[in-house]
Amino acid sequence: FINTISDMSHFQIEAWLASQSQRAENALLHYLDSESSTPEQLHKAMRYAVLGGGKRIRPLLVYAASELGPKEMLEQALVDTAAAAVEMIHAYSLVHDDLPCMDDDDLRRGRPTVHKAFDEATALLVGDALQTRAFEILSNHQESDSPQTIAIRLAMIEALALASGSKGMAGGQAIDLQHVGKKMDLLALEQMHAMKTGALLICAVQLGGIAAQVSKDRLKSLQSYAQALGLAFQVVDDILDATADSATLGKTAGKDAAQDKPTYVTLKGLDYAQELAKELKGRALNSLSQFGPEANALRHLADLVVDRKK
Ligand code: IPE
Ligand code: IPE
Ligand code: MG
Ligand code: MG
Ligand code: MG
Repeated sequence: FINTISDMSHFQIEAWLASQSQRAENALLHYLDSESSTPEQLHKAMRYAVLGGGKRIRPLLVYAASELGPKEMLEQALVDTAAAAVEMIHAYSLVHDDLPCMDDDDLRRGRPTVHKAFDEATALLVGDALQTRAFEILSNHQESDSPQTIAIRLAMIEALALASGSKGMAGGQAIDLQHVGKKMDLLALEQMHAMKTGALLICAVQLGGIAAQVSKDRLKSLQSYAQALGLAFQVVDDILDATADSATLGKTAGKDAAQDKPTYVTLKGLDYAQELAKELKGRALNSLSQFGPEANALRHLADLVVDRKK
């Protein structure tokens, strides 16, 4: 661990984050339809849902993972498509998560939620349309694409579909809602977190790896990094819900206790959750031990995810 930190001293994380966050914004802008496209209200609401801030952790994970591939094979456009697609799915999941029939939230990314700024039917359709747009851009191959590129697109579509569906994010959300006000054991809680949040974060790392043709061997280590980080992400989300304020979070704080949701904090307490997050970060960093400086962005993202304040 000490070694990894000293190895990172020459890596300019601030510069990397600034350039790659901008890259993510550009990719999203490129793939979202303009507000003047018909139907205007739906496209306006889709842009509102996606472009109004957000930490862009998933696109950043796509970019960071892509740095583990052989440079001469890198098709940056494919990586950008993956980054935009996974963030569209994430944004859709937030729009639906905030609906009155789910978590019933008014505030997201420091602004009124989509169903408040527009209406519930629009919020429902924003989610539907963002989801299909994500798969549309991944599948949108060119005449000039090589068979290899088409195989990559197909693999990315499969990975994103699996992570988003009933055995991934949507399934995890179903389990979450089934357990409002109910007890849950630790194993079931971990399973729920791995599905509702972990799956899409793991997928982000996978997409970067697939797009950049990272070797099978390296993909395995990436997978264990992502598993630890994906769980850590929701543990930290639960901690912040209990400890931060709404202004800092840009979403309503204290929601989990108020709605009697099973989380690491409500089930096991704050100290346990904080220890677990730290341990998971260690596990994520350990998974990268065989890599050199090409994994520095991934290392810093593990820090960022676990030490974040919002
Ligand atoms: C919040 O995700 C919802 C979870 C899956 C825990 P983020 O914390 O990544 O939200 P944004 O994209 O930065 O708003
Ligand atoms: C959200 O979990 C998971 C997904 C959106 C898939 P939460 O319900 O805890 O997310 P926040 O806290 O509202 O962002
Ligand atoms: Mg929720
Ligand atoms: Mg919620
Ligand atoms: Mg939460």
